[in-house]
Amino acid sequence: MPPAPRTPARLVVLVSGSGTNLQALIDASTAPDFGAEIVAVGADRDGIEGLARAERHGIETFVLSTRDFADRAAWDEALGAQVEAYAPDLVVLAGFMKLTGPAFLSRFGGRTLNTHPALSPAFPGMHGPRDALAYGVKVTGATLFVVDEGVDTGPIVAQVAVPVLDDDDESSLHERIKTSERAMLVEWVGTLARNGFHLDDRAVRLGDVNPR
Ligand code: GAR
Repeated sequence: MPPAPRTPARLVVLVSGSGTNLQALIDASTAPDFGAEIVAVGADRDGIEGLARAERHGIETFVLSTRDFADRAAWDEALGAQVEAYAPDLVVLAGFMKLTGPAFLSRFGGRTLNTHPALSPAFPGMHGPRDALAYGVKVTGATLFVVDEGVDTGPIVAQVAVPVLDDDDESSLHERIKTSERAMLVEWVGTLARNGFHLDDRAVRLGDVNPR
């Protein structure tokens, strides 16, 4: 028998910006049946609204800037150690604009989720909404996936489609995507936390816990 998932699951959320996805998780996790609690919020920069949201809710925060480390590998190792101090079951990258590297994934591979504002495998990287607009697609969306060593390439948990309107600019399109993205994130983080999950090649399956 696999071990049952720990409830509530412990989440560490990493952010780089306004943190509206984080806020959706904070709000959802106040319900006792959500199945997950946010034990810490980390960022790669100071002074962002995402950190302020956590502080207003009494959630512990930490900042690890790449500028304070000799190189990206040292930052990645420190990030993994810092996150590990909170003993999370799941790590959620919610608008975290850095790639986690091999040292981080050696600790949290298979249980780190990221949300991306495009329908993978289209438009990976930092500018999903801008790239979708430039290509002229009529439908884009958001993708929740399990982080691997690539750029937005990991096994897909869930996707949501969003129409592109004729008068959209990058901002209006991204805001429409984010409305759907937040709902998807809350639904699926809760589902994964309550049920546990494992990877079967590229399929994300409920009802089990990844080996640690
Ligand atoms: C979200 O749309 C998220 O998918 C995106 O940043 C936004 C953060 O919004 N992340 C990426 O583009 C990562 N490649 P928020 O700070 O309001 O949650």
